[in-house]
Amino acid sequence: MAGYNNNSVKITPPRWLLAELTYACPLQCPYCSNPLDYASYKTELSTDDWKRVLSQARQMGAVQLGFSGGEPLTRQDLPDLVKHARELGYYSNLITSGYGMTEEKIVQLKEAGLDHIQVSIQASSQELNDHIAGTASFAHKQEVARLVKKHGYPMVLCVVLHRENIHQMPEILAMAKELGADYLELANTQYYGWAHLNRDLLLPTKAQFEQAEAIAQAFKETVAGTMKIYYVVPDFYEDRPKACMNGWGTTFLTIAPDGVALPCHSARQLPGLDCPNVNDFSVQEIWHESKAFNFFRGDDWMQEPCRSCDEKAKDFGGCHCQAYLLTGDMYAADPVCSKSPQHGVIQEAIDAAQTATVAAEEKPLVFRNSKNSKLFV
Ligand code: FES
Repeated sequence: MAGYNNNSVKITPPRWLLAELTYACPLQCPYCSNPLDYASYKTELSTDDWKRVLSQARQMGAVQLGFSGGEPLTRQDLPDLVKHARELGYYSNLITSGYGMTEEKIVQLKEAGLDHIQVSIQASSQELNDHIAGTASFAHKQEVARLVKKHGYPMVLCVVLHRENIHQMPEILAMAKELGADYLELANTQYYGWAHLNRDLLLPTKAQFEQAEAIAQAFKETVAGTMKIYYVVPDFYEDRPKACMNGWGTTFLTIAPDGVALPCHSARQLPGLDCPNVNDFSVQEIWHESKAFNFFRGDDWMQEPCRSCDEKAKDFGGCHCQAYLLTGDMYAADPVCSKSPQHGVIQEAIDAAQTATVAAEEKPLVFRNSKNSKLFV
């Protein structure tokens, strides 16, 4: 591999490894962050490949491991991979829709050494959950959440928020309490992949955001000490961007199902990165030497207003994928930032989303499934 590391930036080891085991998923959520053309990636790493990747990343210093997808439960070797992760000393987390989980599998994963299961639920009512998931799954998800608790895992519930379910905030909180959640992640949709495609129909109004957040904050005080609530803020209504990935190539390493290594889950769409594959290079080489991982390290890449900004060490210019999706320029400042000359595109997106409410019947949500994905191949 040609060494792209310019030696002027100190490289810290990866700490968080996200293993996207598969793009296969029985659900069809229209806010999925997987690539639109996921159907074109047909190969998956073998069990031995994954074990090698886990070992190499751990050797470099990775400590947190997320098994995700698609739906990671569709991989029959999941317990084997969990066992390997435990032997290596990872803290491992299964990020799942719960669909396909059984009590037997929960026990099996516990015995293999899984630390943590995060179950996502799409809404507080069966009708809306099943509509958003594109699959009848509400009752099963609730059952899985109870089993997770019963078998002594921290009960982590995740609800992705958007215009279709944000009005259910009081009921979502009540559901989390009833299920005995130890942690509740209220994740406002981040507009990448399928969520970007469906943004006009998913982005709530500012008033909806503010009302939902106020309800969640008030509830947080009533459950202090029993349930922790993480409210992932909607960056379209902020005036500074998020420090995406804690800085490019500093902390997070994502491996896609086919073995492509990514500095963030959306980097696959960025042009010219030549993201390397773990079948061709070691994780060590990829992290230190690859073009993709060195692309936005440090601040040499920055244009104004980021270059001279006194907050650049705090947010690193924001999110490159968002800049690319919204402006076509991945070097631009994240347009969420009010200092960005292209900040107006955020207001345009908000305006477009408000008028789209009326047009929803003509342009319905595009669900994430292989038939729709093939339209983007
Ligand atoms: Fe790719 Fe933010 S998601 S840099």
